[in-house]
Amino acid sequence: MRKYHLLTVTELQNETPDSVRVAMRVPDDARKEFEFLPGQHLPMQISIDGKPVRRTYSICSLPGEMPLEIGVRVQPGGKFSEYVQNELKVGDQIEVMPPFGQFHANIDPSNAKTYLAFAAGSGITPIMSIVRAALENEAASRVVLFYGNRRQRTAMFIDDLYALKNRFPERLQLYFLFSQEDQEFDIFSGRLDESRVPELYRAFCGGLEPDEAFICGPNTMIDSVKSALLGVGMNESAIHIERYGAPRKGGGPKPASTAPGSKKLATIDVIMDGHKKSFDMSVDDSNLVDAAAEHGIELPYSCKGGVCATCRTHVREGDVTMATNYGLEPWEVEAGFVLACQSVPVSDKITIDYDKT
Ligand code: FES
Repeated sequence: MRKYHLLTVTELQNETPDSVRVAMRVPDDARKEFEFLPGQHLPMQISIDGKPVRRTYSICSLPGEMPLEIGVRVQPGGKFSEYVQNELKVGDQIEVMPPFGQFHANIDPSNAKTYLAFAAGSGITPIMSIVRAALENEAASRVVLFYGNRRQRTAMFIDDLYALKNRFPERLQLYFLFSQEDQEFDIFSGRLDESRVPELYRAFCGGLEPDEAFICGPNTMIDSVKSALLGVGMNESAIHIERYGAPRKGGGPKPASTAPGSKKLATIDVIMDGHKKSFDMSVDDSNLVDAAAEHGIELPYSCKGGVCATCRTHVREGDVTMATNYGLEPWEVEAGFVLACQSVPVSDKITIDYDKT
């Protein structure tokens, strides 16, 4: 099972007035574990007023680069992000789990691909790593990036993107959209929404045959871009998405055995690091992670919203049902992986295995 490591903050830089770039040094003995694919993220934990606060942030640096960098958008009232902006100092240590996530590009120097990338707001963070990796390491690949923000001054990594455009003018098409600033051309004034994306595609992707598309941003933007790409004939399996922000409410299926007032117990066996721990939970409990915590068993988690997949585990025996799933690919669900933060048992006994990857 992945565990937290202490990473040391080596640099803090205001990226925009409301975002901070954080560089962290990985200890030498953990370097191997922190190797990553472009697009992956880091579950992180800091202690604020004696309580652990967890968040997940995508890596914006290039695989192989050290220190690791993340971009943190500061949310008003956001405990973690306000701490990063106001309290965190160079030299501080943060608990960070090794990189993780199915949203990534498989970079291969022999590839000659056309990548489309769509980012909104801080959704640029994993896209930045993917775009850089494709341009730096696949000499015959090209990237078309559409990047939406409210205003230019709130757009993260804008200088890095212009620098990339200067280095790779033939292989990077870069388009900025601003929803609260008029642009010289109307097509760039507004959001990446259902009407705009087909228009952008027709205007700037005509003649291209995109191999893969990467989309990162809020739910509505992702759904609009995905449906537009399906509409122009892209295969769903070539469209990769990473959702940011609060997920929609689940309202998913409830366990078959749940009845009002039911206190039926299920036995949960947890395999972790070769050891087994067990606890009982009521089918009325909200999810495996919280139920385990009530018995002093800490299972990994970060967002608890069905998005980050930090809580991913394999159901070796029995059945569970998930309320929401934005973090697992269809093949993972097919193979028996679930999000523990969204799962409750539907059989009397289940075994979940954190050692299976
Ligand atoms: S903790 Fe993020 S999906 Fe479960």
